[in-house]
Amino acid sequence: MQVDLLAGTGYRPLALPRPQPTILVFDSGLGGLTVLSRTTELCADAHIVYAADDAGFPYGRLSEDALVARVLAVMERLIARFHPDLVVIACNTASTLVLPALRARFAIPFIGTVPAIKPAAAATRSGMITVLATPGTVARVYTRELIENYAAACEVTLIGSTKLAGLAEKALKGEPVDDEALLAEIAPCFSEKDGQRTDVVTLSCTHYPLLLERMRRLAPWPVEWIDPAPAIARRVSQLLGPSGRLPCPDATAVFTSGQNLSGPLRIALAGYGLARIATEPMPLVN
Ligand code: DGL
Repeated sequence: MQVDLLAGTGYRPLALPRPQPTILVFDSGLGGLTVLSRTTELCADAHIVYAADDAGFPYGRLSEDALVARVLAVMERLIARFHPDLVVIACNTASTLVLPALRARFAIPFIGTVPAIKPAAAATRSGMITVLATPGTVARVYTRELIENYAAACEVTLIGSTKLAGLAEKALKGEPVDDEALLAEIAPCFSEKDGQRTDVVTLSCTHYPLLLERMRRLAPWPVEWIDPAPAIARRVSQLLGPSGRLPCPDATAVFTSGQNLSGPLRIALAGYGLARIATEPMPLVN
């Protein structure tokens, strides 16, 4: 028989803090760090594993079949090794395609990152919005459906950049990236028509916010740049529920190429709280 020790005292039992969850944040490369930083702000007590499939980078160039197979294979390994309670696919190129297959294969929750077309349509005043993404994300049926469902009344420009994710990686690694190269990638985002011009650009690749300050400076006119990372972090935090534990200092970054990381990259990762580096070598077989 269970005895209720609080019966008749007027006290209600306090909700116990949740056990420390492990969150796996996944991307093809370093772009998912923009989602990781917002997630750690809201879920400071979680054990974070950041996984970059750098052997497969960039995902934007892979065929849809190859990408589904690749993400499932890498996820299989990562889940077996780190036993996450929740996975954030911090990659639009993967999320717009692979989420149904991941959810069918694994029994843990997956939170994806998809183009913020609904918020862009809500924010525009001119009715002209641009989706800046990888060529893969731009080509997805999923992206086209988001536009049909949420931005049918807008003039939507889809820009698939082949170089921007790579430039963001270079910048984070402390390698030089010149303004002209950056401007060439973002210039097509800005359109003018019938006296109106683009006023919202949705950053639909998680790498791009790494270059946000420079893109703001180089833009031909000011626009609202939408970074979906804060919304994703809020969703993660909602799913995990209230914390109540001390911050977890123990975050790990894992890379699939197995290559040595440069000094500047190690310093950049430490700035994101990722002082422990691991490898899970998985060469991309074409
Ligand atoms: N960070 C990824 C995204 O959000 C893409 C970069 C790549 O092409 O691998 O789409």
